[in-house]
Amino acid sequence: MLICLPDVLDQDTVKRFRQRMDSAQWVDGKVTAGVQSGAVKRNQQLPEQSPLAQQLGNEILDALASHGPFISAALPLKIFPPLFNRYQGGEHFGVHVDNAIRFVKGTVTRIRTDLSMTLFLSEPEEYDGGELMIEGKFGAQAVKLPAGHMVLYPSSSLHQVMPVTRGARVCSFFWMQSMVRDDGARELLYDLDQSVQALAAEQGVDHPEVVRLSGIYHNLVRRWADT
Ligand code: NI
Repeated sequence: MLICLPDVLDQDTVKRFRQRMDSAQWVDGKVTAGVQSGAVKRNQQLPEQSPLAQQLGNEILDALASHGPFISAALPLKIFPPLFNRYQGGEHFGVHVDNAIRFVKGTVTRIRTDLSMTLFLSEPEEYDGGELMIEGKFGAQAVKLPAGHMVLYPSSSLHQVMPVTRGARVCSFFWMQSMVRDDGARELLYDLDQSVQALAAEQGVDHPEVVRLSGIYHNLVRRWADT
């Protein structure tokens, strides 16, 4: 399931991020790539452990912690500290699948990558190309979102970033281990939660069927979630 979440960061926050990022030192993006993905990766990143990347990454994690649709769609258990990349002058990232396990540098934390996130920090009109192409059951989908919006997709998907032929594409990208490992089960929970919320808005939160469906939702989470 591919989900686009609007307004994860507001416009003022994006502007502040960009002012700080645009004057920072960038390094070759291969530093965080695996063997296969490293061979097809051409971009730049903020150094993973730079204070700037850590500060901005923490702000993103704070924003996500109170973002209802994100919690509902992802059911997050562990989130990898957000990284930041930039593509310009024809840079691109060829077809690859993200590494299954990520180690958080300088810690013993390991994360199984269930979901991949890209948070856009450039407006689409600032650059040409740079679409994130994600392959799914119904073919490839091109994703290019307004600044501050984020896409969430299964880390098991083949994906690529098309060459950026004008301007710069600046994003944050990171991974997450979900409490619900199975994509299909997680999607059912998300759909059910959306329906329960819509029904609650229409009928009231104390309507007996709303209460019963909420119970079913929580009992399914209890059945499927690992914590
Ligand atoms: Ni990737």
